[in-house]
Amino acid sequence: MSKKLFIETLGCAMNSRDSEHMIAQLTEKEGYEAIDDFREADLILINTCSVREKPVSKLFSELGVFNKKKKPEAKIGVCGCTASHLGAEIIKRAPYVNFVLGARNVSKITEILHKDKAVEIDINYDESEFAFDDFRTSPYKAFINISIGCDKACTYCIVPKTRGDEISIPDALIINEAHRAVDKGAKEVFLLGQNVNNYGRRFSGEHEKVNVSELLRRLSKIEGLERLRFTSPHPFHMDDEFIEEFATNPKICKSIHMPLQSGSTKVLNDMKRGYSREWFLNRVEKLRAECPEVSISTDIIVAFPGESDEDFQDSLDVMRKVRFNQIFSFKYSARPETEAEHFTNTVDEEVASERLTTLQSLNTEILDEINATSLGKTYRVYFEELIKDYYVSGRSDNNIVIKVKGSDELLGEFRNVKITSIGRTILTGEVVA
Ligand code: SAH
Ligand code: SF4
Ligand code: F3S
Repeated sequence: MSKKLFIETLGCAMNSRDSEHMIAQLTEKEGYEAIDDFREADLILINTCSVREKPVSKLFSELGVFNKKKKPEAKIGVCGCTASHLGAEIIKRAPYVNFVLGARNVSKITEILHKDKAVEIDINYDESEFAFDDFRTSPYKAFINISIGCDKACTYCIVPKTRGDEISIPDALIINEAHRAVDKGAKEVFLLGQNVNNYGRRFSGEHEKVNVSELLRRLSKIEGLERLRFTSPHPFHMDDEFIEEFATNPKICKSIHMPLQSGSTKVLNDMKRGYSREWFLNRVEKLRAECPEVSISTDIIVAFPGESDEDFQDSLDVMRKVRFNQIFSFKYSARPETEAEHFTNTVDEEVASERLTTLQSLNTEILDEINATSLGKTYRVYFEELIKDYYVSGRSDNNIVIKVKGSDELLGEFRNVKITSIGRTILTGEVVA
């Protein structure tokens, strides 16, 4: 009988890809089979996120529950970004944890599994990180890393500490991985990195200078690959070449994530983002001029230390000007080993909550207006998932989530869908061709 693996994945798409790799390694080399109930598992993994404080404190209460209710002989491993930043501290606080494996070390899962109380959190360059397994949780969409780590030093962010220096993966490896995914039936490839449009900054060895625009051109030549997406590009690196490639390459989906963080140039400087409010707005304008149908999503942090009410109003003002199609908004959370951790001009918790609420209600207002314009329009949808009540859902080229009545025959297929009703998170439509 095969051994059972339970894995919980928190955090971003890079963590999801890391989990796919660990599942594949454990299945192929150790005979595990992934299951949904941790109480039945022989190995419990939590792939953690460290970007804000809340999930970190939740981790220990969750570990306690796992320890109490698991099978007596089951092992518990803590992986991912919190593993990287807390390391051995995790075993100190939760002595029943069997091993700790950092975000940059997931390729070592089958080794560490056999070393009790081991901690592997080295963030030095390790080429084994490049060759990820072909296993994917969705057969329709392939997530592929194009770079690992991050060389920026945004003052609020822990990621450079947990994922290490930025290294671009050689384009030939990426192209081969995409070919294999497409041969297996994926029509969409989703490129991942903390700074995807800084691709080519540093390779591990000698390598031809390939930038992200060139990488996208090369990937889009793959026959059978119909959609290319990527996340996250950095506004600082959105040069004209990148925007033009984005706008004119028919395989690149016309939706882009442009993490604003703040609409105030003063706060952006304090965050060390490397761009101003004007630069951000200028890039949006250029993008919209070249590609009027583009949908733009963003991340905004409220109550960064020193954020005045006027600075906050600047963020709202950028929201009104850009009218983002989706916003992920967060209250600033002080993180260890970051520059901003030592900033003393913090914003009151109450003010922070108020700002978040104000921002979110403006967002809802704008979204409702944007969504209303979709009624009666037709979008080309790539179907990926069966959902409840006999619906199938997928995304339009510009990333709108749309459902239609249907069955698994639609999965992995493209159809034109006319929108018949509007919801906040999902639109409903009917197939017209
Ligand atoms: N590389 C991406 C960000 C990855 S982290 C980029 O540069 O955009 C994802 C998001 O988490 C960030 O965009 C930011 O909005 C948020 N975030 C990061 N650190 C944070 C912190 N200390 N407090 C609150 N939100 C944070
Ligand atoms: Fe963090 Fe900034 Fe790097 Fe994004 S670019 S991962 S926010 S340091
Ligand atoms: Fe979280 Fe690490 Fe991703 S901190 S957001 S899982 S890079």
